[in-house]
Amino acid sequence: MTSAVLFLLLSCSKEILQRFPGFQAPADFPATAYHFDTNPVTQEGFELGRKLFYDPHLSRNNSISCGSCHIQSSAFTQHGHDLSHGVDDRLGKRNSPPIMNLAWMPLFLWDGGVFDLDLQPVVPITSHEEMDESVGNVIKKLQGIPAYPELFRKAFGSEEITTANMMKALSQFMVMCVSDQSKYDSVRRNQATFTPEEQAGYSFFRQSCTGCHKEPLLTDFSFRNNGIRAGLNGDRGRSGITLNPDDDFRFKVPSLRNVAYTAPYMHDGRFITLDAVLDHYAAKVQEAPTLDPLLRSGTTLGIPMTDVQKTQVIAFLKTLSDPQFIKNPILAEQ
Ligand code: HEC
Ligand code: HEC
Repeated sequence: MTSAVLFLLLSCSKEILQRFPGFQAPADFPATAYHFDTNPVTQEGFELGRKLFYDPHLSRNNSISCGSCHIQSSAFTQHGHDLSHGVDDRLGKRNSPPIMNLAWMPLFLWDGGVFDLDLQPVVPITSHEEMDESVGNVIKKLQGIPAYPELFRKAFGSEEITTANMMKALSQFMVMCVSDQSKYDSVRRNQATFTPEEQAGYSFFRQSCTGCHKEPLLTDFSFRNNGIRAGLNGDRGRSGITLNPDDDFRFKVPSLRNVAYTAPYMHDGRFITLDAVLDHYAAKVQEAPTLDPLLRSGTTLGIPMTDVQKTQVIAFLKTLSDPQFIKNPILAEQ
C-alpha cells in the first residue's frame, strides 16, 4: 500500500470518528418541542455553544461557567450541593436540574417560568446568586476575546456577536444533550432484559409512578404538588409564575432519567438519597390543598410500599442511568 493511500485511509477514519452526528431524535421518543426551524443545529453552532457553555467569562468575576453548576459527570447537575452555588459561592434557592433531553421540554425551570430555551440563559447570567453579570457586558467581554468573532462568523455568517446568536448557540449545545442509551432504553428496544428485581420494580413503577413520570421521557412536564412540605425558603413554585393559588407548591415533574447520578433530589435538593425519596412517597406525603389527587386514595396519602418494593423500585431507577451520556466526549469541555 502506498503511503499516500494509507494517509488517505487514516485521515478518513479520523474524520468518521469525529463526524458531527447532528441532532438525532430517538425513534421511540415523542415529538420534540424545540423550534428547530428557526435554529437548526449545525456543527459550528454546536461547537460555539459548547465553548460558551464552559466559558467563565459569562459571569461577573469570570469564575463561574454554565458547566460549573451543570456538570456532565452528574448528568449536568451539581453533585453534592442541595442548592446551587454561584459567584462568590452565593447560595441559590433551587437545586440545579440536568441539561438533558431539553428538546422535548415545553417549559423551563422548576416553576416553568421560561417558555423558550433561547431565553433561559438570561436567568443564570443576570441572577445575583448565579453569574451576577449583565448580558450586555458578556457580549462586550466576548468581543474582546480573539477567538469569538471567527466562531460566530462560522456559526451564523457574521462576526458580530449578538445576544440572539449567543443564545442560539447555547441552545444548539443544550439540545444535543440527548440521553437515550440507558439499560431501560435497551430493554424497550428488545436489546436487553431486566433482572427479576428490576422487572418487579418496573411493574410497580408503571402502576404507581408513570401517572406523572411518564414514559419514555419519565416526565409528563406537568406541574404537581407531590406532597413534600414547603421548604424552608417558602418557595411556592408554579404559583409564583401564574399567580394562581391553585398552583401553590406545584413544581415541574422532573425526568427520572439518570436519577442515580443527580442527587440531591427535589427542587430544593432536600433528599440526599433515593431511599429518602421513596420513604417520602411511602409514608411521609403531606396533606395540602393542592396535593396531587394521584397521591391520595380515600384517607390514605402517598404510595404505600414495602421495603422489598422500595428496593425493587430503586433497582429499576438505576436502569435509567446512561453512562455513555455522562461520558460522551462531544459534550465535554474541550
Ligand atoms: C450557579 C449555578 C448555575 C449556573 C452558573 C447556571 N445554572 Fe442553569 N440552573 C441552575 C439552577 C439552580 C436551575 C433551576 C432554577 C429554577 O428552577 O429556578 C437551573 C436551570 C437551568 C435550565 C432549565 C432546565 C430545566 O429542566 O428546566 C437550563 C436550560 C439551564 N439552567 C441552563 C443554563 C445555562 C445555559 C447556563 C449558563 C449561561 C446556566 N444554566 C448556568 C443553576 C445554574
Ligand atoms: C403526582 C405526581 C407524581 C407521582 C405519582 C410521583 N411523582 Fe415523583 N415527583 C413528582 C414531582 C412534582 C417531583 C418534584 C417535586 C419537587 O421538587 O418539589 C417529583 C420528584 C421525584 C424524584 C426526584 C427527582 C429529582 O431529580 O429531583 C424522584 C426520584 C421521584 N419523584 C420518584 C418517584 C417514584 C419512584 C414514584 C412512584 C413511587 C413517583 N415519583 C411518583 C411527581 C410525582
